[in-house]
Amino acid sequence: MADLQTKVIELARRRGIFWPSYEIYGGVAGLYDIGPIGVRIKNKIVDLWRKHFIKDNSDFVVEIDTPALTPYKVLEASGHVDNFTDPVVECNSCHNVYRADHLVEEIAKVTTEGLPPSELDKIIREKGIKCPKCGGELGEVRLFNLLFETRIGPYSTNKAFLRPETAQGMFTSFKRVYEAFRQKLPIGIAQIGKVGRNEISPRQGLIRMREFTIMEVEFFFDPNSDVEPPLDRLYDLEINILRGDDKARGEEKYTKYKFSEIVNEKIVINKWMAYWMGIASNFVNSLGISSFYFEEKLPHERAHYSKQTFDQIVVIDNVKVEISGHAYRSDYDLSRHSAYSGQDLSIFKKFDTPKIVKKKTLILNKDLVTKEGRDFSKTIMEIINTKTVEEIERMILNKEKVLGKDIDMYVKIVEREEKISGERVIPHVIEPSFGVERCLYLTLLNSYMEKDGRIILSLPKRLSPYDIAIFPLLEKDELIKKAREIYDSLKERYDIIFDDSGSIGKRYARVDEIGVPYSITVDPMTLTDNTVTIRDRDSWQQIRVNITDLMNVLDRLFKGEDFNKLGKLVSNNE
Ligand code: ATP
Ligand code: GLY
Repeated sequence: MADLQTKVIELARRRGIFWPSYEIYGGVAGLYDIGPIGVRIKNKIVDLWRKHFIKDNSDFVVEIDTPALTPYKVLEASGHVDNFTDPVVECNSCHNVYRADHLVEEIAKVTTEGLPPSELDKIIREKGIKCPKCGGELGEVRLFNLLFETRIGPYSTNKAFLRPETAQGMFTSFKRVYEAFRQKLPIGIAQIGKVGRNEISPRQGLIRMREFTIMEVEFFFDPNSDVEPPLDRLYDLEINILRGDDKARGEEKYTKYKFSEIVNEKIVINKWMAYWMGIASNFVNSLGISSFYFEEKLPHERAHYSKQTFDQIVVIDNVKVEISGHAYRSDYDLSRHSAYSGQDLSIFKKFDTPKIVKKKTLILNKDLVTKEGRDFSKTIMEIINTKTVEEIERMILNKEKVLGKDIDMYVKIVEREEKISGERVIPHVIEPSFGVERCLYLTLLNSYMEKDGRIILSLPKRLSPYDIAIFPLLEKDELIKKAREIYDSLKERYDIIFDDSGSIGKRYARVDEIGVPYSITVDPMTLTDNTVTIRDRDSWQQIRVNITDLMNVLDRLFKGEDFNKLGKLVSNNE
């Protein structure tokens, strides 16, 4: 894939898709600018994600927007201050710092995910791993925290961080959203926003960045509720899964499962988690990417808060890249934030019909107790205040005495019925989490094609930066005027790029390289018979269409109808 990545990175720089940030100062590893064409594709990817995760689930998913600056306490409660670390190792001679697990994995060819520093150290010593740069001796493996630290306001004590995920904003505002929205579970809170992770060795391209955009849903549900996800929407789906058990046995290949098997056989332990993995499959498919699977993480590979985790892995050119993570976070986050903030983050779950429960209560014959005098009163009150109703009931059954008198003369236990309208519950959470730039990058890698020595970005139509290009064939006023008229008539409906400079072949090549699916060309014949050509990006074929039919033909093309059947094929001038 290195070759493919090099080509895509070069194309991205040349065509304004993305490039290293602060280039005039030499750039900073892991920081990228997304250019004018990249922003258009990125926005369309985000729109598509919104459609799959929010719009199609608007009965129970809402979106919010919370700050990137996060107070110390919040990330202390979440566990990030202690646990958001990667192992590093420094060369004693040249002082280059490496991500220890990646170094060991590359050189010793063993899997290292979740291994503690001591284990990594052991492998480094056993295998005699040295600094790849200078051959020097490596120091001891230690943990490095990836949080970017800062301060809020002028006080040096007011420590804060850039958020490493958007999730904490959803947990800390959960109560507000719950109350403002519908006061019912389940409820998904979605957010799309920038995050910072001080990654140790960012690689080329948009896979490992130090600032990137996350799109995630924190889905809150009652683990004891029988509210079912709308699974029927997904029953046609087949999903590739590499299960933890198989992995532990050394299996590296995934198995294809029917969606119903995943749910019924509890391969995914929670139905809602299976549901969101199904939605994630559909979303990744809509990026044009069909080669992917879900890999279950083994207990020692999981994040500190997770009961079960799957990574969604995309395979391009035999290289595997995680595009999304799916974690069952249980009630970890809300419980921790309740404890650290002192606020009750449980919700009151109202029963459909109130429940009648039997409750034992104690009845004291005060008059009789008073008559027995102060000492007796004091002793019996102490028993009542320190023992449970059940314990006192046992004393009565055992005919115990208090200062020589039968206790059941003074105290009785009666059973009463009580009406309860609900109970308090700490919701559990499922989290599907995608990196936007990784989606963008993998989509570009997946769409990159070469044909006759030329580049085509064969993006799915709905992700193209522009739907249509309009070209006057020649730099003649009548042709430009006509092309402008067509532009004006279509611009409300489509994203259009207009270009009248350079040879037509170069203009076609330019739009092929940014993935515009159709080009409309106005040529001299247009002025005599009111027809234009439409050119297909991938086949380079052209059809001739009357301008009065143009809108209709385009609509049908974007619906997926066959290009060759919508107009007369003509020869082109490329
Ligand atoms: P990795 O194992 O690759 O470091 P992670 O498991 O820490 O990733 P998550 O915390 O699950 O990643 O993040 C959710 C998603 O965010 C990932 O699936 C990926 O798409 C994206 N992502 C994570 N780290 C980066 C990064 N450094 N640069 C770009 N995207 C990232
Ligand atoms: N229809 C214009 C061209 O063939 O290039």
